[in-house]
Amino acid sequence: MMKTAPTQYPVNDLIRNRWSARSFSDKEVSKEDLLTMVEAGSWAFSASNIQPWAVLMARKGDLDFQRILNCLMPGNIPWAKNAAAFIVGIAKTKLERDGSFHKTAEHDLGAFDATLAIQATSMGIIVHPMAGFDPEKVIAEFKLAESLKPMVVMAVGYLDIPEKLEEPFLSRELTPRSRKPVQDFILNLG
Ligand SMILES: Cc1cc2nc3c(=O)[nH]c(=O)nc-3n(C[C@H](O)[C@H](O)[C@H](O)COP(=O)(O)O)c2cc1C
Repeated sequence: MMKTAPTQYPVNDLIRNRWSARSFSDKEVSKEDLLTMVEAGSWAFSASNIQPWAVLMARKGDLDFQRILNCLMPGNIPWAKNAAAFIVGIAKTKLERDGSFHKTAEHDLGAFDATLAIQATSMGIIVHPMAGFDPEKVIAEFKLAESLKPMVVMAVGYLDIPEKLEEPFLSRELTPRSRKPVQDFILNLG
């Protein structure tokens, strides 16, 4: 099921067709495809081209898939367990040159994630980001350095029919997508 965004202006179809679905099919996402998505993400802009991101990647069947699944909040597990893969988006919060706080790291990771998701859309692959996970668990499970901040777990996979989902996820899958009109957030529109 497509949930193409009903835009006011002629927004590109790749952007209109990206959405955070929850119904994943059994089809595998190849390692090559995951690497393509991650490389696409790395071509996002970042302040001073510092590229302050890192990822953990796991495909279903990998030990790390279960380790990441165990870090999700209960509300995400019923549908996210059917994903073909997870990508954990991690911000590098310290500058390598002097260890000081990197104030745009989280911004730049967001650009990475969005670029990765657009690439996935072009490949017919769904990316559903989740902040509903325990970052402390990820840090402990993967022994991450103190400067690494897990921000998001992305569930990745091919779309299946909405009817595979139980409530409340089925209703969410069927609800039309919506956005505030641009007039609501352009602060200085004449
Ligand atoms: C940082 C972030 C955290 C999110 N966390 C969750 C989550 O924990 N569970 C969930 O089902 N969706 C989560 N989402 C998905 C959003 O609900 C979704 O992107 C939003 O409703 C817009 O829908 P769309 O992506 O289909 O356009 C998250 C999205 C982002 C960007």
